[in-house]
Amino acid sequence: MKMVNVVFGTVYGSAQFTAETVTKEIAKLGFTTKLWQPNELSGFVPPQDELLIVVSSTTGQGDIPEDITPWFNELKSNAPYLPLLQYSLIGLGDSSYETFCGAIKQFDELLTELGAKPLTERLDIDACETMEPEIEAKTWIASWHNTVRSVNVA
Ligand SMILES: Cc1cc2nc3c(=O)[nH]c(=O)nc-3n(C[C@H](O)[C@H](O)[C@H](O)COP(=O)(O)O)c2cc1C
Repeated sequence: MKMVNVVFGTVYGSAQFTAETVTKEIAKLGFTTKLWQPNELSGFVPPQDELLIVVSSTTGQGDIPEDITPWFNELKSNAPYLPLLQYSLIGLGDSSYETFCGAIKQFDELLTELGAKPLTERLDIDACETMEPEIEAKTWIASWHNTVRSVNVA
């Protein structure tokens, strides 16, 4: 089975807890996983023969959390073209902001610019609807797993 890299950006910890939950659940399915702490990401270019999951909340007005911003900028300025990389995205936000889930949308745009392919539809979790984003993420994993199996990338 493919290795799954999970990366997160957070301000108050919900995206971190969600990423931790996702990583544990995916490991239970038999995948080898790596949960990257934001301070470990310098120089990390997601390997194209592994799967990538990015979990990020949004801060400011559609902004990327400070902890993961250096990695975002590094990818933007230095990453090679990654046409074989398959990625999935989980955004945490609040729909009372016009810039709902702006940070994960920026990741979506960047990864698309780099030629990477979305493996699944982006999951945008709305803090107006749930106080427990990790529960929505757990449900999402079932569809992630189905997609991984159906496109035979495992
Ligand atoms: C100061 C501040 C600014 C925020 N800006 C946005 C925003 O622009 N868009 C959005 O969708 N959510 C925004 N949010 C909501 C957070 O993204 C949401 O509460 C999220 O669940 C926080 O996750 P975290 O604990 O991982 O940081 C903002 C929250 C705060 C406190």
